[in-house]
Amino acid sequence: MTDSSLFITEGRPLLQKTASTYLERSDEERIRYIKGSRWVSYDAAQKILIRLEDLLQYPKSHRMPNLLIVGETNSGKTLLAKYFCKRHPSQNDPASEAANIPVMYIQAPISPDEGRFYNAILDLLFAPYKPSDRADRKQAQVIKLLRVVGLKMLIIDEIQHILAGAMAKQRIFLNLIKYLGNELQIPIVGIGVREAFRAIQTDPQLSNRFRVVTLSPWKFGEPFKDLLRTFESTLPLHHPSYLEEETLANKILALTDGYIGEISGLLTSAAEHAIKTGRERIDKKVLDQIDWIPPAERRTEPVDI
Ligand SMILES: Nc1ncnc2c1ncn2[C@@H]1O[C@H](COP(=O)(O)OP(=O)(O)O)[C@@H](O)[C@H]1O
Ligand SMILES: [Mg+2]
Repeated sequence: MTDSSLFITEGRPLLQKTASTYLERSDEERIRYIKGSRWVSYDAAQKILIRLEDLLQYPKSHRMPNLLIVGETNSGKTLLAKYFCKRHPSQNDPASEAANIPVMYIQAPISPDEGRFYNAILDLLFAPYKPSDRADRKQAQVIKLLRVVGLKMLIIDEIQHILAGAMAKQRIFLNLIKYLGNELQIPIVGIGVREAFRAIQTDPQLSNRFRVVTLSPWKFGEPFKDLLRTFESTLPLHHPSYLEEETLANKILALTDGYIGEISGLLTSAAEHAIKTGRERIDKKVLDQIDWIPPAERRTEPVDI
């Protein structure tokens, strides 16, 4: 049985194997496990992962296709990209001095500054450079090194940071993205909020080459129920919660506005509470008892210190 496979115990929903092994552990260990990071698979993410795999295998050409993953904050964009990167780790090739890096993930600098953008790449490559070097010099160094490591895909997270600001600045970065893609003949994957999409639309050449996929907040329906079932299968509680049951699922939606980051946070707190109180399941009572402020209220709630 693989780690992600499911098993059934009597009268309870499916529990993932790792989670099931934790059932025997102490409360503290179970809580630590629940608080740790985990990947919960869902259909929309699987579809994007398939697209990313296709792009990675795309034969080199002068017009490489690109992808833009758009979604509000807490929609699961970054975790998805990191999950993909883990599947394609760097490898040290004993025959050559350079590592082989198929996929590189960078966070765009907060401000649209070319030099800083290149610094982010050079830092990841542990390449020596003078921060004061001109951007075009760093650019040449980046192109050269990325060829050496055999880069096949560049993922730029928070891409709206470099596509913000004055049109002239935006243009510089739109050209930079085009240039990197063309020179290296690799697909560029941008990740960002909706503004990034609008910025790319201003460049017809680039917008032609960017397919856009969106990670939207969850709504009530079968896919959401599936997500809740999968979440539940990662939580080592002694009793089933049946999170997908309509009343409970709707309550979870109301408390989280459907953002996966909020759903994950809510269920983590609720599972911890369920263990500490001995209730061993997440139900309406547990959700009422934990100190959870829905995201929309949190933004307006005055904070008592
Ligand atoms: N597939 C997933 N499985 C489990 N938890 C997830 C998943 N996607 C997102 N999360 C949770 O949501 C949080 C926010 O996700 P993140 O990828 O950082 O969102 P974004 O980049 O869209 O702002 C993560 O830290 C994680 O706790
Ligand atoms: Mg993110």
